[in-house]
Amino acid sequence: MTRPGLAVFISGGGSNMKALVAGVRAGDVRVVVSNDATAGGIAWAKENGIATEVIDHRPFGEDRAGFEAQITHRLARHDVDLICLAGFMRVLTAGFVAHWDGRMVNIHPSLLPKYKGLHTHQRALDAGDARHGCTVHRVTAALDDGPILGQASVPVLAGDTPQTLAARVLGMEHRLYPAVVQRLLQGTTDPLHLSFEGESR
Ligand code: GRF
Repeated sequence: MTRPGLAVFISGGGSNMKALVAGVRAGDVRVVVSNDATAGGIAWAKENGIATEVIDHRPFGEDRAGFEAQITHRLARHDVDLICLAGFMRVLTAGFVAHWDGRMVNIHPSLLPKYKGLHTHQRALDAGDARHGCTVHRVTAALDDGPILGQASVPVLAGDTPQTLAARVLGMEHRLYPAVVQRLLQGTTDPLHLSFEGESR
């Protein structure tokens, strides 16, 4: 039986994508997709023999459905069963989300339902939270809102800046995302909880 294939969508450096590649079996990540040809993760994927598809969103302007139709067209070249969003900075339409219903997941740098959207680390610091973290969830039409598949938390430390906190959370993202995806590939959907212990502020 063929193993399920993954597509990983990125817009930047792709450190979560690299963690996913390292955390699943060789060949499971069938393609890395980006809206940005200069995304560092695209060069890395090419160097590591992984297929890439770059679809620049800019020529499509407001036509998000047109941009997504091109993504769908390119994805058809690969054998993809599950889309993993990993720092993909484009909001997807309800139509695209519905097409991949139950077959698309995302990692978000907060303990959802707290801090949907951007600037999550600054918002956790501003709120004086003792713990912060990351969440892997199914993608639904509402932003950062789908059923939670796993969460990992870290302490917020005295003197943290958004940058130091982001780095601590990112380290947990790299452990959480492959672990959740491995469980999904095995058919397990019970939420996974990981925790980095340390002194809270
Ligand atoms: C991560 O913090 C992820 O949670 C967020 O964007 C960042 C992407 O980082 N959605 P990278 O490209 O995986 O290094």
